[in-house]
Order: sequence, then C-alpha cells, then structure tokens
Amino acid sequence: MFKKYVYGSPVETGAVVIDLFPEADKPQMFDETENGSLEFIMTETDIVYGLGEANRGINKRGYIYSSFCTDDPNHTEEKRSLYGAHNFIIIDGFDRIGVFVDTSSRVTFDIGYTDSNVLTITTDSSDFALYIITGDSLYDIVRQFRGLIGRSYIAPKWAFGFQQSRWSYKTADEVREVVRNYRKHGIPLDAVCLDIDYMERYKDFTVDETAFPNFKEFVAEMRCEGIRLVPIIDAAVKIEDGYDVYVEGIHDNHFCKTAEGGDFVAGVWPGKTHLPDFLNSNTRKWFGDKYKTLLDCGIEGFWNDMNEPAIFYSDKGLKAALDAAAEANGKELDINSFFELRDKLMGLSNSIEDYSSFYHNMDGKVMRHDTVHNLYGFNMTRAAYEAFMRHEPDKRILLFSRSSYIGMHRYGGIWTGDNQSWWSHLLLNIKMMPSLNMCGFLYAGADIGGFGSNCTRDLLLRWIAFGIFTPLMRNHSALGTRAQECYNFGDTEDFKNIISIRYSMLPYIYSEYMKAALADKMMFRPLSFDYPDDNFAATVEDQLMFGDGLMLAPVYTQNAVGRYVYLPEDMLYIKFTTPTQRRYALLPKGNHYIDVAVNEVPLFMRKNKLLPLCRPTDRTDNIDESRFEIIAYVDKPCEYVLYSDDGYTTDYDRPEHFDSISVKEDNGKLVAFSRKTIVKVSLFN
Ligand code: GLC
Repeated sequence: MFKKYVYGSPVETGAVVIDLFPEADKPQMFDETENGSLEFIMTETDIVYGLGEANRGINKRGYIYSSFCTDDPNHTEEKRSLYGAHNFIIIDGFDRIGVFVDTSSRVTFDIGYTDSNVLTITTDSSDFALYIITGDSLYDIVRQFRGLIGRSYIAPKWAFGFQQSRWSYKTADEVREVVRNYRKHGIPLDAVCLDIDYMERYKDFTVDETAFPNFKEFVAEMRCEGIRLVPIIDAAVKIEDGYDVYVEGIHDNHFCKTAEGGDFVAGVWPGKTHLPDFLNSNTRKWFGDKYKTLLDCGIEGFWNDMNEPAIFYSDKGLKAALDAAAEANGKELDINSFFELRDKLMGLSNSIEDYSSFYHNMDGKVMRHDTVHNLYGFNMTRAAYEAFMRHEPDKRILLFSRSSYIGMHRYGGIWTGDNQSWWSHLLLNIKMMPSLNMCGFLYAGADIGGFGSNCTRDLLLRWIAFGIFTPLMRNHSALGTRAQECYNFGDTEDFKNIISIRYSMLPYIYSEYMKAALADKMMFRPLSFDYPDDNFAATVEDQLMFGDGLMLAPVYTQNAVGRYVYLPEDMLYIKFTTPTQRRYALLPKGNHYIDVAVNEVPLFMRKNKLLPLCRPTDRTDNIDESRFEIIAYVDKPCEYVLYSDDGYTTDYDRPEHFDSISVKEDNGKLVAFSRKTIVKVSLFN
C-alpha cells in the first residue's frame, strides 16, 4: 500500500506515474523538527536499504548521504554524493517501510551518522512529496515502488553483449584495431563505445571527418564484424560561430539563462559552451531530434555524459579565481592566504555558486538551477528517448546516462561514472547493483576494470568475473591510464573463457532482465530479500542473489585464491573453469571457504532451480537459442521461464516470448522437457 504526503507545492519531477490523492495528515512515523527535517527513531537492529547509486554499503546505516547529482571522479569513502540522485530507502526493522522523497533539489539522508539511532531526512526545499510504502516483505515494497515509478527501460539484446570502451580511440583505424584484436583472440565482443574524440572539436552531433572518414560506411563496416558503435553525447553545446546546434540554440532560445537574461556560459570539454534547457519541452524535442543525425548513420546506441551538468568553470568563477591569483602574484603568501587561493582554484568546478546562477524555463515556470538540479541529466536522457520513440518507434535503441534521478529509469540505463581501478571499487560495484535495482535502474553497470588509475590483470579478471552478470558489461578507462583492453594483459585465454561464460548464460541473463523489467522485479537482491528470517544473511554485504535462484559470491581482493561464502541454505556450487567445463559440489547451509582461481567464476544455485546454458559464441548475433544444456538442482518437478524475443522490437509482452524449460517426473525419474532442444542435462539432487 502506498500513501502520498505533500509538503508545500512541489515541482513536478516526473518520477511517479500514478497520480495519488495526497493524505490530509502528515505521516505518523516521522517527527518534524523545527527546521522542517523529518526524523525517524531506529531500533538497534534496523537496516536501511536503498539510495540507488550511493557510496558505502548495501545497509546504508551509519553514514550521511547527499542526494545531489555530482561529477566527482574520486569516489573515496567519505564522499556523500555521486552522479545519481535516488531518494528511495527502505527501513527494515520493527516497522518495514519504503520512503521516497520526491523533490528536484538536494535531499540529505543522515542515517545514524549524527546520532546512531536517528534517521533524519532534510530537504533543501520545503516543497516536496513524500511517499510511504508498506508491504508484506522487502521485495513487495520494492515491487510496489517500482509500480509507482513505472516500467524500467528495456535495452536491445545486443547491448547485453560485452562492450569495449576507452577515452582515447581517436581514429576509425584505432577502433578497427581494437575489434581486430578481440576477434583475433576469440574474445567475444558486441560493441565499441566512441568517446568524445569521434566528434569534431567535441561538438555534439558532429563527426570528425578526418579521423572518422565516411562515418556511415564505417558504422556499416563494423556492423559486418558484429560490432555496434555507441557514441557519447555530452550535455553542453560548444559556442562556435556557424555550428548549427549552437546557432539554432541561440536563435530559438534553447539555452539556460543567467539572471540578467543572457545565455549562461560553462567551460566543459569543448571549451566554452551553453547548457541546453532540458527542463523545457521544446528544447527537449529540439535536442532529441539531433540524435537522428547519428541514427541515420546506422547508430543504434548512445551514452549521455556530463549531464549533472558538469561545469569545469564558469566565466564568472574563473575570472574571480584568476583575479585572486593575479592579486597574489609577487606577494609573500602566508599559509592561510595560500590555502584560500588554492581552494578558490580547486573549487572552480561544479560549484554551488555556479549552480545557483543560471535558470530554466520549465514550460513557463522560471526555476533557478540549484532548485531543479537533480532533474537535468534525467531530462537530457528523456529528450533522447522520446526522440527515438518518434523516429524509430519499433526499435530499441541503447541509451545510458551518467547523471540520473528516479523516473529516468523509464528512459535509459546508467553507468556509475568515473570509478577507479581499485579493488574497493569492484566491491562498491557489487554493493550498488541491488540498490540500483530497488530504484528501477536495471540496465546498469560500472566501468569494468575501473576508469581512472592503472588496472592490473588480476583486478580486470576478477572484475569481469562479476561484470558478466551486470546487464551493462563495459570495460572503460580514462585517457592516460594503462591500456585496459583484455588483450593487453598477456595470455588472453582467461579473458576469453570468462567473457564466454557471459555469452553462454546470455539467454538466462536476458530472460531475468526482461522478467524483472516487465514485472517490476529485481535482478540483483541482497540476501535478506530472499531469506527474510535469516538474521546472518542480512549482514552479508559481498554476496548477492541473482535472477531466479542463483547466488553470486565474487572474489574482490588482491592476491586472493578464494573466499569465504555464506550459504543461507544447502546449495549447488558450480565453479566454471571454462564456459563448458565446470566443477560441482553440493554444499550444506553455513560458512565455507571456496577456492577460486583468477580465471574461474563461482556460482551458487538454490534447490529446485534450473539454469539453461547455450553454446558460447563471439557475439550476440550468433547465439543459438534453440539448443540448451541444463544444470538442474532438483528433487521435485520444477520449471524455468525463459524469455526470448527478437531482442530489438518493442512488443515485449507477447505470451509467445515466454517459454518453459521444466523438469518433470517420468516413470519415477526426473526428466527435462522443453520445446527447445536439450542437448545435455546435469542433474543434481
Ligand atoms: C567523463 C566520463 C567518462 C569519459 C570522459 C571523457 O569523465 O564520465 O566516461 O570517458 O568524460 O569523455
């Protein structure tokens, strides 16, 4: 059951799709403090889940989080904000409630940070809507919340293949070389992402004709290799005379304004830019239609970036900092003046002063940016998605964004921004996945191997061994870091094997994704969601329930040769040594140590579950969904629902997409049945 409470007169954010009549009273479980914060008293054992793309654990208790989309590539543990703003939590204890704070500006969740037993929610604006959701279980609360916010974005099937990216592919030949290497080593690959270098001087919707000549032909050439190219689109538009997007934007008033009515100037990759006013429906339509230039070249996927929006500097901020530096020049600086100057220079990017100094026209309503900040990236992605619906209504186009707010999950997926090649960021990736699913973000993943810093072979292998389960599976790294493509780390056989496991599981992963999207389910769940009566399971932060009946226990520490794993019940342990070779063990409920070499993938299966596997291939186009091998851990008849469709049309709900693979009793024996060909059954009981 959900209830809506309204404080003041909130801005319509677009997060919720069900129009609820607000309650007359305020919610009982919260005390309102003098400054308007909402306080909830937690018991010693309450757990708090949620917040989507946020730092720290699956249990959010014990820290403070600031929901304000932030471009910060240093996700160290003390950080309070990342790129997304996902204001949904579930308090699980004596009371079990879901809370969604729907507001376009900052929300601070102090979850036992100031006072370990107090949860305080503080909104920057006194205008917000609060939704309280109660249900039978944690999962039930999530399902209801997901119903409230609408169906998650559905990506094309090819986007579940492995994607290679790097900020530095400067020419078509470099991209060809990447593809050639992957194909040469037999490492599966479906897409290459094009970072800002494919553009002419970082101008959106242009292609550098010298570096990428005959772009349309190049896209087709790559398609023949089984590769889709996925270009980046940045939020900001370069100021350059004669550049059509800039000229039109000025002419038709599409850019955010200063208080004086001029177009706000932000320094981003192209140099000086203007920010399209994505909160305005005309601007959304105008900007969205620009993607057509690339769709017409055969492009089938995009990633939207720098849309918090990232502002390296504003004219005003830069001038103030340079003036201060000029003033200091030649003077003897005492230490305080030195730090003051340093802070001025270091604080130039993404400053709250800049965010408070430009304005949107929300279809007639003028709003200062900081009050609607969290909706910016959301609406950039909405602009693109709505344009795809206009131009290619029957085709799924891949779309994922860096910045997001709840509601954007209907229009695209996300990647979790500029992480680092750190073991701790592999663990953060693991912990974030269920929280993202709670908030509707199903098509999600981190930069595998880490964006910043230099990756090592073992980190990349371990990260891929987890990444094979994330819907977005993309290796991406920053300019200037060690080359991170899989073939750059010696013997490629290990990479080939682990990535091939993804491809052999792809029908299962895709089925689980589609079922989760169509029925508001979570692909990734904390153990407590599946084992609500197991108190120990609720403390496990490095294992996840995955899809229908699987449990993941990735290895995420350097030099590890295995790990401890907690089994909340008896399970079948499947260790993939190659896509077709596995070791099995039936392990009893409890704690176990498992050996896992860097080239192996551990997987656990619940009782009376089935896992269909197909033959590994090098690209999604070649997956044969007519023949399966089945791993079954069963002692009674059971069924697996396989979802399979063409993977690119949008007619998702047809009953013929759902197929059944089952184990039934036949003459006293358990036998597998399916309309598909079953080539082998590995049956355990
Ligand atoms: C941002 C993005 C990153 C990209 C870079 C250059 O830092 O988060 O993924 O590679 O910009 O475009």
